[in-house]
Amino acid sequence: MMACASSLSMMVLVLVAAMAAAATAQLSATFYDTSCPNALSTIQSVVTAAVNNEPRMGASLLRLHFHDCFGCDASVLLADNGTFVGEQGALPNKGSLRGFDVVGNIKTQVEAVCQQIVSCADILAVAARDSVVALGGPSWTVLLGRRDSTTASKTNADNDLPSPSFDLVNLTTAFSNKGLSTADMVALSGAHTIGQAHCHDFRDRIYNETPHQLCLRDVAPGQLPTNLISQKGLLHSDQVLFNGSSTDNMVMIFASSAAAFSSAFATAMVNMGNISPKTGTAGEIRLNCSRVN
Ligand code: HEM
Repeated sequence: MMACASSLSMMVLVLVAAMAAAATAQLSATFYDTSCPNALSTIQSVVTAAVNNEPRMGASLLRLHFHDCFGCDASVLLADNGTFVGEQGALPNKGSLRGFDVVGNIKTQVEAVCQQIVSCADILAVAARDSVVALGGPSWTVLLGRRDSTTASKTNADNDLPSPSFDLVNLTTAFSNKGLSTADMVALSGAHTIGQAHCHDFRDRIYNETPHQLCLRDVAPGQLPTNLISQKGLLHSDQVLFNGSSTDNMVMIFASSAAAFSSAFATAMVNMGNISPKTGTAGEIRLNCSRVN
């Protein structure tokens, strides 16, 4: 009986892995090469102008892709409507997620060059990469071909996105639930070198864990591992990555080698961008990123 149950779960696991691989296989770096050859340059010029105008915007656009990508279907961009309560009101997003205007601006420019070809989900993925590059961080090839959701779930956003009070076990579970490895999680947390956080996210850490007054800074991604080693991680969820546990070694490697960090961060961003995309005929290409067609 035990043997049956375990071989059944093996089969389910293999099937789930095969389905995930199939979804990923449909994304491609050349997806818009013939249908909208100017898509990527159009996105890049709007992002670069926005980041030059306000460097923090690069951080905000990167975070927007992450918060979408526990789904990767632009559901995070949808405003509440009569059918659903959107994700922008979820606890991890409310009052802190930003960059919606820039995404709207990108979409307008992209629609001007190719009508209803480029998805909002792909715009978020490309804007995240272009933001990191504009801030002096590593580059990577963005896989494309995601389509946009026709619905959103505040409940999923509340349940799936990690909290800054998480310990290592909760963090690892949140990322592995989405198919991301611990190495991906540690590398991606390097994103916290840029941007800003509200006091309520790290008040406990400052008063209960460390005397340092800290702030996320507008510098190129990569500084975080060094901060963690000197116990200066801003969020509790950052510092648990270097706290005498299994991830210490990875943090040490990233702190001692910018090249190792850059390469791991780029790989992890691609992996994150591959989380359950809608492809083929699923979903739609929205005309306006904040509402369904
Ligand atoms: C590991 C789990 C994570 C937790 C618990 C977490 C939590 C947070 C929190 C609480 C903030 C501050 C929000 C505010 O007060 O405005 C923040 C900011 C930020 N996060 Fe994360 N985050 C995580 C992972 C990530 C990942 C994977 C990325 C991107 C790859 C990311 C990118 C950012 C960026 C760039 C900011 C600054 C945004 C801005 O200045 O607008 N975070 N994060």
